[in-house]
This record gives sequence, C-alpha cells and structure tokens, in this order.
Amino acid sequence: MTTALQVESAVRNRYSEAAGQKVEALCCPIEYDREYLKVIPQEVIDRDYGCGDPSRHLKAGETVLDLGSGTGKICFIAAQVVGARGRVIGVDMNDDMLAMARKYAPVVGQAIGFNNVEFRKGRIQDLALDLEKLEAELKKNPIQDANSFLAAEARAAELRAMSPLIATDSMDVVVSNCVLNLVEPRAKRQLFNEIFRVLRHGGRAVISDIVSAQPVPVEMQNDPELWSGCISGALTEEDFIHAFVDAGFYGARILKRDPQPWRTVQRIEFRSMTIEAFKGDSVGSAERNRTVIYKGPFQEVVDDQGHRLERGRRQAVSDPTFQRYGREPYRDCFELIEDGAGPSPAPPCCNGSSCC
Ligand SMILES: C[S@@+](CC[C@H](N)C(=O)[O-])C[C@H]1O[C@@H](n2cnc3c(N)ncnc32)[C@H](O)[C@@H]1O
Repeated sequence: MTTALQVESAVRNRYSEAAGQKVEALCCPIEYDREYLKVIPQEVIDRDYGCGDPSRHLKAGETVLDLGSGTGKICFIAAQVVGARGRVIGVDMNDDMLAMARKYAPVVGQAIGFNNVEFRKGRIQDLALDLEKLEAELKKNPIQDANSFLAAEARAAELRAMSPLIATDSMDVVVSNCVLNLVEPRAKRQLFNEIFRVLRHGGRAVISDIVSAQPVPVEMQNDPELWSGCISGALTEEDFIHAFVDAGFYGARILKRDPQPWRTVQRIEFRSMTIEAFKGDSVGSAERNRTVIYKGPFQEVVDDQGHRLERGRRQAVSDPTFQRYGREPYRDCFELIEDGAGPSPAPPCCNGSSCC
C-alpha cells in the first residue's frame, strides 16, 4: 500500500520537474479569459497544470486564498479580478513552484499597477503551519535524535497557534485549481476542515478539481505515477460534494461539470468539475420570527440544515436562515416577506431543532 510519505514525495518530485519544464501529461486544456493573460509571463502560462477556472467566480475587493498555487497563474488572474482593494495569497509546498511564482509577482504587479499577491509555503491540509518559519527553526535546532524531533513537533504546534500561515476566519474566498486530488486520502477530511476554518463566516469555496465517475480501485491508488498525475486521489463526483457538506459547508452546487472526460483509465472516467460551497454565519437567534416563500420550480426542497420548504407556502424561519436565503446561492429561490403581513406562516419541517 502507498504510504502518505510516498504520495507526498511523488507529488513533490513530479511538480518540481513540472516547474522546470512543461509536462504535457499534466495539462488539461482550459479557456482562461485572454484579457487577464496579457500581463502574465509566458513561462507561467506554459506551466498551466489546472483543470478549471475558479477565478471566473471572484469579485472586486475580495481576499482570496489559492490552494496549490503552482507557478501562480490563478493568483495573477485573481489579482486583476479583485483589483487594488482586494488581496490574493497563494499557498504551495513545492520550492520550485514557489520560486517561479515569487519571481514573477513583482513583474505582474508592475504591469497591473499594484502589488496585491503573495506566495506562502505550506501544506494545504495544514494551513496553520508556516513551513518557512519551521525551516528557520530547524536550521537553528536540527533534528538529531528523538528528543530534538519531539521538540520540533512542539515548536510546530506553537507556530500553528501563535503565528498561523493562514488565520482562522480570514478569507472571503478559497479557490483551488486541480490540487485537492493530490492530497492523500487520510488527510482529505482535515483538508476540507482547514478550508472551512480559514474562511470568514459568509465566505465561500470555489474549487475546480478532477473527479471520477466511480471510486478509484485500490491498485490504482497504489500507483505513485497515477497519484501525481491527478488520477488516483480523485474523489467521486458525489463524494466531492459530500466532503464540503461534512466539513460544515451549506449550499454546495456544481458550477461546471465537463461533459467530456479528461482521461479514461481502466474504463473509469475522470473529468473536471467546479464546485461552490458556503460557510454560514456564526450565531443568531433560533426564534422563527421571519417569513419566506419558496418560489419553486420543485414541489419542495430540503436545505443543508434540514429545512423542508414547500413551493408557494408561507413558512416561518429564524433570522439567520432568512438572511441566508437572501444571499447566494438561494437568492433567486425565495420571496422574503419583510413586513410579516398576511396569514401566519407555518414552520418548515426541520431535522434539527436548533437550526430553525
Ligand atoms: C496540478 S498543479 C496545479 C497548479 C496550479 N493550481 C495551476 O492551476 O496551474 C498542483 C500544485 O499543487 C501543489 N501541491 C500538491 N499537493 C499539495 C499540498 N498537499 N500542499 C500544498 N501544495 C500542494 C503542487 O506543488 C503543485 O504546484
């Protein structure tokens, strides 16, 4: 069985090679907005190892985190979309990728007239740990025996708590392009939890990744070449969505699903999919003193909190739920009754009691 260490070193080696020269097998053709590519150096564009374009879903002024930023293409596009009032942080664990992205950040900054992008070294399943700070510590106190190993572990825990690479509740949007599949299976849950942690309440994740039509068989998962080639670690389309819901996100939806597979391996189709999911508000009264009407077109729907809403019926919800229905992704599905006039609304059926 492939170990976590083997997966990570296969990924590290493959992407060091891919930073040096373009690796065709890792490329999945994508149409980026040409306007944004004009200021991006050719060396970066050539090393496009993405499978989608989450930057299309960003807005001016947002603070964005790009997971597995590679040579920086999505960050450099995002920098232009969010503009001078916005900010973009790319995180990658590979020194060669980071070196190229950092080399070109001032070049892009000069071309667009502002510097709003930076690149940090970290593992996306452990966004609290600043690997460059840890490296500096390890230079001063190298690991030589079990005691120094334990001291290094304790220092890493301290760094996570006292000076996190990415702070809790700090990002408007987390994006990623073809990277989540590269994280080994046992760290996937932690990865989705980390995405949730760093987003502010009301923030969202927009993730493009390779997904599979069926679960990937164990023998394929044990192939390091297929791992680093964005195949073995792909979640199924269904599991990809569930991973967000399990981490606490609501309103997950498919923004794009390529009809054509990118590759078919052992008769399993692998294709690109882009998902959006939202982090809810922290607190709010549970009293059902607001009224909504679900507009359809379905007879009834159930949201991620378990509210069951019937088409055309006045239903009572709490203020946080009312606010949530007034924003994306629900905005167009509901009539929000501001004045409370008319017949008394019925409460929606609800699986949990505190959420209503
Ligand atoms: C397929 S490339 C995608 C690069 C970039 N997003 C793009 O669109 O071209 C994967 C990138 O993710 C990085 N990566 C893979 N696993 C990672 C992890 N666990 N933590 C941080 N970076 C990771 C690799 O070093 C590489 O730069």
